[in-house]
Amino acid sequence: MSPGFDKTFLEQLKSKTDIVQIISSYIPLQRKGKSHWACCPFHHEKTPSFCIDGEGQFYHCFGCGAGGDVIKFVQEYESLDFAGAVRLLAEKAKMELPESSYDAERVAKERKEKERLLAMMKQTALYYVSALRGESGEAHRAYLEGRGVDEKTVKRFGLGASPDFDTLPKFLAQKGFTREEMLKVGVVGEKNGRLYDALGGRLIFPVISQMGEVVAFGGRLMEKKPSFAKYKNTQETELFQKRKTLYNLNLVKKYKNEHGLPYVIMVEGYMDTISLTAEGFANVVASMGTSLTADQARLIKRYTDTVVISYDGDSAGQNASMRGLEILEGEGLKVKVAVLPDGLDPDEVIRQRGKEAYQKCLNEALPLIDYKLYALKQKHNLKTTDGKREYIAEALKIVQTCEDNFLKEELLKRLRSETGITYESLQRDAAAVGEEQPQKQPDIPEPAHESAGDAALAAARFVLHALLSGKSYAKEVDPTRVIFPKSVHGVIADYVVEKREEGETPNPSMLYEYVEESEHDEVGKILAESLREIDPTTEQRYFKDCLITLKRIQLQAEIEALTAAFKAETDTEQRKDLAILLQKKTLQLKKLS
Ligand code: UTP
Ligand code: MN
Repeated sequence: MSPGFDKTFLEQLKSKTDIVQIISSYIPLQRKGKSHWACCPFHHEKTPSFCIDGEGQFYHCFGCGAGGDVIKFVQEYESLDFAGAVRLLAEKAKMELPESSYDAERVAKERKEKERLLAMMKQTALYYVSALRGESGEAHRAYLEGRGVDEKTVKRFGLGASPDFDTLPKFLAQKGFTREEMLKVGVVGEKNGRLYDALGGRLIFPVISQMGEVVAFGGRLMEKKPSFAKYKNTQETELFQKRKTLYNLNLVKKYKNEHGLPYVIMVEGYMDTISLTAEGFANVVASMGTSLTADQARLIKRYTDTVVISYDGDSAGQNASMRGLEILEGEGLKVKVAVLPDGLDPDEVIRQRGKEAYQKCLNEALPLIDYKLYALKQKHNLKTTDGKREYIAEALKIVQTCEDNFLKEELLKRLRSETGITYESLQRDAAAVGEEQPQKQPDIPEPAHESAGDAALAAARFVLHALLSGKSYAKEVDPTRVIFPKSVHGVIADYVVEKREEGETPNPSMLYEYVEESEHDEVGKILAESLREIDPTTEQRYFKDCLITLKRIQLQAEIEALTAAFKAETDTEQRKDLAILLQKKTLQLKKLS
């Protein structure tokens, strides 16, 4: 969706603008075939994986997944909002902006609102900071001192104190902010008509965006209170989405500009970040809790290509590390895991064992495959035969994913010394594991790389790409009859139909105006399908396979649901109906393969 401008205007603007020309005015491009390549400006890389499709007028980075149309590029590169980027491009194209349209007014209003909210966040941060210095911040100061946080660190992170529940709303009202504004960003809550400081009494950690704006606050209880969360964050707003934010990225960004950034350390918490930074580890960011997201991974990719995960040594932390690994790896980052001793978190390692002990954990950080084996070993009791057998079976699967033969041999040798099983027999079993996994047909292209493993998504993306590019073999397919895994796919299918009915060819870069912004990544992935080299002789067959895959997955889901319903049903008549339906679906599924 395009805030503030009508679609016709944007369509004109895009047709008068050449994305290749615009991007080449910012970064050097290399032509290869029908596309242009460059080192991605949105993440750190040495070999080009950033590609521009002049025909479709969009860009896509195979490294970090960044992608979009020309407006998105200018937005990101120039740090402008949508309207700002449109204005800049319109100027270049010598086009007049549609004047004082209702939408343009709305955009201006929205920007003003956002600026006011940011100003309020800033005022709130200043209020908390000064409260920490004042009389009412005494307990907070004592708490920080008790945790070894010095004055310099307090300043660096802008830590603050909420003295009570009443003062903040009054303070903000004095500064001219409305009740609605306060409630909107969630620094203030409301109960029985009374406003209160949402983080009342807590120790305050401001969350600051890469642009240096205060977008949220975290607040810690200073003593345990049952039924109160230890940490509380202000709510998610247009300013702050936790899944797209990393704590301390603002300082890490600054550090990178001055010193470069070979890698970042990824921790879970505010205090971990603060303790490590105070000890001179300036390259720390926190995911603020355990669930690292793909958005956060992409954010990191703009700054560096390597991440050392340093989550708590407890089992929750270990599970989180494993998920984090997969996500970071999926986004093409190099990952290692620093295993922390005795269930401690980074802050505790620093406090209890010193900086050197933590440095040692970093030095010994395990590469992905070693960490997987390490974690697996923790789960099994190698003293029992059963435990050993299970461990070996799982471990061989992991070893088998290793592409480096030398490394594979090393890992097998290590398994031998751990389990006492002979090398030959391990090798035989390892080979058998390899055989179990059916080999891919070589003439079928690999599924789009990011969604490896998710067949439905990969299939849907290719089908939509074929429909959008008006491939002749796709013309007979009715897009509305295909069942896609994501609702945004349906929106795109509708767009194809709309264009067909108008007798026009779809314009891929216009898709960004049709779908919600939160789905723009998915649009990028679909458009990027056209950048893959596909053998034209197998393309049509692949398309058909993709349709079958979608159908099959749909049927499987239906069968699963029907089976569950069947099991739960007690009425015999109903059961009979369900059984018939099940049979029908199962037959359909059989016919597909
Ligand atoms: P932890 O529970 O590991 O706390 O949460 P911590 O960082 O070690 O904090 P200290 O040392 O006890 O002060 C890790 C992170 O998860 C988020 C916070 O960002 C926290 O820093 N969190 C945790 C919440 O948002 N809410 C909670 O209730 C707990
Ligand atoms: Mn801690």
